[in-house]
Amino acid sequence: MSNYKLDYHIAPTSGFMNDPNGLVQFKGKYHVFYQWLDRLQAQGPKSWGHVASSDLVHWESYECAMHPDQWYDKDGCYSGSAIVHEDTLYLFYTGNVRTESGGRETYQCLATSTDGEQFTKHGPIIHLPEGYTAHFRDPKVWKEPVSQQWWMVIGAQTQELTGNVALYRSEDLWNWTYQGNMLSSDRNWGYMCECPDLVTVAEQQYMIVSRQEKIERDGRQMDQCIPYYFAGQMQSDGQFHLYSGQEQQLDEGWDYYAPQSFVDEQGRVLSFAWMGGGEIDYQMSQPTVEDGWLHALTIPRELVAAPNGMKQRPVVELQQLRQQERSYEVVLTDEHEVSEVTCAVSSHVQEILLEFDDARHWELLLLDGVQLHYVDESKSIVLKRLNWWTGEWDERVLIVPEGVQRLHVFIDRSSVELFINDGEKTATMRVFFKTTADTIRLSGCANVKGKVWELSKGEL
Ligand code: FRU
Repeated sequence: MSNYKLDYHIAPTSGFMNDPNGLVQFKGKYHVFYQWLDRLQAQGPKSWGHVASSDLVHWESYECAMHPDQWYDKDGCYSGSAIVHEDTLYLFYTGNVRTESGGRETYQCLATSTDGEQFTKHGPIIHLPEGYTAHFRDPKVWKEPVSQQWWMVIGAQTQELTGNVALYRSEDLWNWTYQGNMLSSDRNWGYMCECPDLVTVAEQQYMIVSRQEKIERDGRQMDQCIPYYFAGQMQSDGQFHLYSGQEQQLDEGWDYYAPQSFVDEQGRVLSFAWMGGGEIDYQMSQPTVEDGWLHALTIPRELVAAPNGMKQRPVVELQQLRQQERSYEVVLTDEHEVSEVTCAVSSHVQEILLEFDDARHWELLLLDGVQLHYVDESKSIVLKRLNWWTGEWDERVLIVPEGVQRLHVFIDRSSVELFINDGEKTATMRVFFKTTADTIRLSGCANVKGKVWELSKGEL
């Protein structure tokens, strides 16, 4: 058994995990469901795995909430969402059906529960409307506060093989009326929009889609799947009117896909995403495959308003995990004297918070798997992650127009999540450190205040 099992992330003990599903707070408890398969393969008859927590940090495992055991979901209880109404938990999900001739059918289905543990399936409530292929899935439901009506967005591929988002409306959560496409066809929505979500943060609406498209890289055709968000406003005809048109990436790391948001009982907009994705070979090359499990969810994040969109910050509850604190206050200079500070750590479960002042440049090494090189002149971070598969450093450039003032890092044995300037930019990645790696090192030219905490275990 390797040392890669995560301490405070939701991850399966065995099998394959993908999207977070049905995020909800019900009768005081946070419930997180997720796509789960007992085998280590990306495609297959998925179940809904289930964990719950009263504090978003300590999770208890439950029996799977739903298995693909009905004619309408026999090849997978695919992704969906949850809503609480009159003390009942409503789960909306996609029933995936493969036909004998190799085709696909899709049904949007409903299941309910009154205790959050036993679920009763009620079968399809929406059948595929005209104008779409069977790539029609991932219902996300919310209640419009003014009209008190229920709305649902569904990820779709139109008959023209372009991505879009179908809109439905309901008065009772059982009967749904089709309203049309939300996205105008004059921009690139790829060939499919998965896991759509319409989220309101500080009175501003955003459409989130995980866009799938074909791209060419290094002379070869490949699929690119990236979650984007767009500021805009839903119109009375159901169209989503985009404001600036500029798409924004939710996360700039290598392992972040299919985010889903929900509003908790305190009114916070929280989100989890799948900390995975990418091409199948890349996924299957991960060292945890040998231990019989694959992938995890991100830490819970709160979506809050930022000057140019929204930002994601780790939920405050995670502070419960902090053990003894070490703090640093250093002036790093190029000229002579102190140009680096090192922090020896005894585990790969750490939280780091750095505040920079007067930074010209700095370099941060996280154990032996991640490096950040910041240059203030170009307001850019070169982010490097050691790829376990190729043995090379993967590299990305993150532009931070206002410069980096704060960097918040969560390390959990085989994952790193970076929050830049309180989450105005985030980068999420899996990293397989060597077990002996024990140093965090910062060098460069900047005034820095830093705090480092070892984190305790989140799982119950
Ligand atoms: C996104 C996705 C969803 C689908 C689910 C199947 O990762 O492809 O569109 O419902 O995964 O597991």
